[in-house]
Amino acid sequence: MKDKKIENKLMNSYRDIVALIERKVEAGEWSAGRKLPTQRELADVFDVNRSTVIHALDTLKGKGIIESTTGSGTYISSNFSSNLSKNLMNWNDFSKYSVHPTNYDIVRRINNLELDNSLIQLGKGELHQELFPKAAFNKSLRSLENTYDQYGYNNGTGDYRFRQAISTYLNERGISSSPNTILPVSGALQALQLITLGLLQQGSTVYAPYISYIHSLHIFRTSGMRLKSIPFRKQTLNTNHLREDLYRSQNSSVLYINPSFQNPTTITMDLNNREELVELSNEFKMPIIEDDIFRDLWIDQKPLPPIASLDNSGHTLLIGSFSKTMAPTLRIGWISGPADVIEKLSDLRMQLDYGTSFLPQLAVYDFLETGGYDQHLVSLREKLRYRRDMMVDLLEKNIGDYASWEIPKGGMFIWVLFSEDVNVRKLFSSLVERGVLINPGFVYSSYPNQYARFSFTSSSLEEMERGIKIIGEALKHQIT
Ligand SMILES: Cc1ncc(COP(=O)(O)O)c(C=O)c1O
Repeated sequence: MKDKKIENKLMNSYRDIVALIERKVEAGEWSAGRKLPTQRELADVFDVNRSTVIHALDTLKGKGIIESTTGSGTYISSNFSSNLSKNLMNWNDFSKYSVHPTNYDIVRRINNLELDNSLIQLGKGELHQELFPKAAFNKSLRSLENTYDQYGYNNGTGDYRFRQAISTYLNERGISSSPNTILPVSGALQALQLITLGLLQQGSTVYAPYISYIHSLHIFRTSGMRLKSIPFRKQTLNTNHLREDLYRSQNSSVLYINPSFQNPTTITMDLNNREELVELSNEFKMPIIEDDIFRDLWIDQKPLPPIASLDNSGHTLLIGSFSKTMAPTLRIGWISGPADVIEKLSDLRMQLDYGTSFLPQLAVYDFLETGGYDQHLVSLREKLRYRRDMMVDLLEKNIGDYASWEIPKGGMFIWVLFSEDVNVRKLFSSLVERGVLINPGFVYSSYPNQYARFSFTSSSLEEMERGIKIIGEALKHQIT
């Protein structure tokens, strides 16, 4: 958004805007069927009055370049006939039925807003730059100097040193592991993609808690799988419900679970529940995909053992990543599972993209080996505790009359339940206008709810204070 603002700084008349949009269409950058940003967003990006935008859009409509559909928005027209449109390819129509539909509108909107540095980021699942171990990691980055003799194609299994370091890391966390049972991936999301493409059957059922990060993704649906919600309250996934469903089910099934400091609820499953899931997976031959990427962000006490460490029969695939403890842009994580699975997935990796980039593997390997990562976690935990407590105080002072929450024992989020008189969708939009971003809870479930995800890691401390005050004012305004 900021870059766009700079690019468009000189667009101060409606003619400039018309000319710019015409140029984009002409150059094939914007294809027929592309949805235009809202009037308010355009006014913001071009830094002009709304009336200038309306005038520009009317002119473009007059020329037949764009068209509006009531209630649905404004699009680049597929029907207009001018020199401009003669050879215009309608990529939007063409790709409508592709295996991967465009992401949910709200998720795309939030993804864009999360890149807008003029907003106070109070929803994002990332560490603020002041929490990043700059000096120590810079040292590890320097260890990459003169490694270019190792830049050839690999065999998809990844760098041995990285896999060795991850297996040591997992052994320390109670999971018996060797380099052959580890596959480096470009983040946990890619791990899910590989497992889906390489191991799961079309038509199978993927069970997940009824509120879960997975509901914000298309990933299983696009591969012909059915996502089914399981009740999840307090610290327990309802295994009776799951068992009954498994008895009835004719399809092969798999469970996706994020057992420690779950995104977005921050619920951590208790030990009994973890053991029940292992039993169920044995009984029904149901693989478990254990996405444990928040494990290292514990604050009050170490989390319970990973499900993978309780499972002696190889049903569980464990996914980890450095996105949450370091930075998502490193795009580095891993899958841990039986060697046969790892071989199958590394073969798939060779077919798809020849494997994870060597550079983040080696930098993170160095960081783990030299003890930098463990030291970082110790200091990070102290900062997380401070931030969590600060956010809880601020929430109590500013929005305590309108909302409630449980204090998380780790992770990045506080899962805030608003009272019935708050319209969370409207609150989200009005906060964006006031310069604050939170993540509305409906993004993470298949039906509306009264929650929002607040992050205590993604802003500076000063912004956290200012942002929550703004939320308090917005709520007063909405309720009175
Ligand atoms: C539960 C969960 N799994 C996976 C991911 C994706 O992580 P990565 O950046 O490692 O791909 C996220 C990101 O928010 C997440 O919350």
